[in-house]
Amino acid sequence: MTAHEALLRADDLEVEYRSRGRKSFTALKGVSLDIRPGETLGLVGESGSGKTTIGRAILGLVPVTSGTITFDGRDITRIAPAERRGLARDIQVVFQDPYTSLNPSMTVADILAEPLLVQGWTRKDAYARIRDLLDRVHLPADADRRLPREFSGGQRQRIAIARAIALNPRLIICDEPVSALDLTTQARVLDLLIEIQESTGVAYLFVSHDLGVIRHISHRVTVLYRGEIVEEGEVDQVTARPSHPYTQRLFMSAPVADVAQQRKRREERRLLAAGREN
Ligand SMILES: Nc1ncnc2c1ncn2[C@@H]1O[C@H](COP(=O)(O)OP(=O)(O)O)[C@@H](O)[C@H]1O
Ligand SMILES: [Mg+2]
Repeated sequence: MTAHEALLRADDLEVEYRSRGRKSFTALKGVSLDIRPGETLGLVGESGSGKTTIGRAILGLVPVTSGTITFDGRDITRIAPAERRGLARDIQVVFQDPYTSLNPSMTVADILAEPLLVQGWTRKDAYARIRDLLDRVHLPADADRRLPREFSGGQRQRIAIARAIALNPRLIICDEPVSALDLTTQARVLDLLIEIQESTGVAYLFVSHDLGVIRHISHRVTVLYRGEIVEEGEVDQVTARPSHPYTQRLFMSAPVADVAQQRKRREERRLLAAGREN
């Protein structure tokens, strides 16, 4: 694949954590991946394999020791903070824990207005946009006056998703966004993410240790093991016929999903995305 086809591309990425008085720890070694516009790349691996570190490197939250990160053809590996703020329009994030990712003392309206006001929106425009955002994540319009603690975990994740899509980003890093939710709520939030992708063409880097979840939402999958990518490919191929022993072990315990139905659904999403580009 040529460079301009990828929305985001990591090349030979290395990240080292250094702390005083301790030996440095190489969390990522030679990691390369690409995410195409409108697709979901599932990033799977056991706890401690470096999944969150990849997301943090893309967001500029950890220093990259070597290698490059390119977004839309532009090298963003070490851009200045001011440029990083500009990039926030295009790259957003949804974290795992809906109980700590939202400021408890801010109303939902203020939480959702913040990214818009930072980018220079007027209050009037921002509040109109908030009504639209609440509707898009299927929360009632009067949610805006309430505080995060008045909502369930699933509803809070909807608020976090609304905040992430406020500026129409092209990529959202989803770091275990449903892992803290019960199964029924997980499915609803995943379906919401899929619905948003279908209507906006946003791409996801979707981090999870749960293969059922990865199968449900991903077009392609990358498998991380101790800071290195050991397998990468179309979701059906990697989940049905994993070639690396680590992936085989990882996938053996996962429940079997309705593969045919999921394939059909992904194909429909692909056609939708292609139609939008024309
Ligand atoms: N700030 C840090 N300082 C030192 N080591 C860290 C830091 N953050 C993460 N690590 C280590 O890096 C490895 C990868 O962590 P992480 O990216 O959080 O993995 P995952 O998200 O796959 O569970 C782990 O061994 C973790 O202990
Ligand atoms: Mg993590």
